[in-house]
Amino acid sequence: MDKIEREIEREIEREIEREMETEMENEPGKENIETGNENMPDRKKEAGTEIAVNTLNEKNVDIIIEGIDIVRTFLMGEVEVRVLLLSALIFRMGDGEPIMGPSGSGKTTLLNQLGLLDTPNSGKVIINGADTSLMFDREKGRFRLHNLGYVFQDYALLPELTASENVFISLMMQGKSKAEYESAAAKILEAVGLGDRLSQLPSKMSGGQQQRVSIARALAHNPIILFADEPCANLDSQNSKEVLDLFKKFNKELGQTIVMVTHEDWHAEYTDRVIRLKDGVLEQ
Ligand SMILES: Nc1ncnc2c1ncn2[C@@H]1O[C@H](COP(=O)(O)OP(=O)(O)O)[C@@H](O)[C@H]1O
Ligand SMILES: [Mg+2]
Repeated sequence: MDKIEREIEREIEREIEREMETEMENEPGKENIETGNENMPDRKKEAGTEIAVNTLNEKNVDIIIEGIDIVRTFLMGEVEVRVLLLSALIFRMGDGEPIMGPSGSGKTTLLNQLGLLDTPNSGKVIINGADTSLMFDREKGRFRLHNLGYVFQDYALLPELTASENVFISLMMQGKSKAEYESAAAKILEAVGLGDRLSQLPSKMSGGQQQRVSIARALAHNPIILFADEPCANLDSQNSKEVLDLFKKFNKELGQTIVMVTHEDWHAEYTDRVIRLKDGVLEQ
């Protein structure tokens, strides 16, 4: 277990580093002069908004995620360039339509705002009724750990850990018992077709298998939303199909809300509807 504890410590350190980077980079926060701290949410604006960690919205809704008036700009040299201008985007419970756009159209930037991996210059992301713009960075970290799952193009598995360990590490961080996290990992790895590979290292697996481990990791804690940034970009078409079939299964059969971005037009065959992004703006 030592190596897992080490990995958890590293993961926590990485999370802290990410938070510090966000604090340093966050142009947006400069607007928050009142508090003097760019990452200090102004809770006075919306009294009574409590942060819901690991709770499904009991009130109204089937709206799971809502992006409102989001602007994200980056400094390129001396010039500030706007790469995202999103007036409104809603995903309801069980939605799974992909967001499509060519390379450079702002897909990753959009996904990072919706998935709370970046902070917009202005605008809000409301997840499951919680206004995430009011969260402190630490709360956002906890919210992500408990409520959101991510799949990336490069799988982002920890090479020293087995498939099973890669999957249960976040459950350990959530404080689940050994029996709970081990059986949860085995169950979800079974569901992605890797029930016979629990103790295999990523280096002994194909790209498609590694991506399926990363999907299992993203889903192990039953996230409210699964975010996927070009999950097939490094895969051949057969493995891409397997990954998309899995997404379809979790979406259609199990009602998992999925927010995926892709530049591959043929991925549209897997869903009824697509959302198109061009130059940082959604096409109607
Ligand atoms: N951290 C950043 N700093 C500067 N420019 C960025 C940064 N992230 C993205 N961009 C720019 O924003 C645009 C959109 O990028 P991105 O969201 O990665 O597009 P996509 O994922 O659709 O390929 C690109 O022109 C890219 O160069
Ligand atoms: Mg991208």
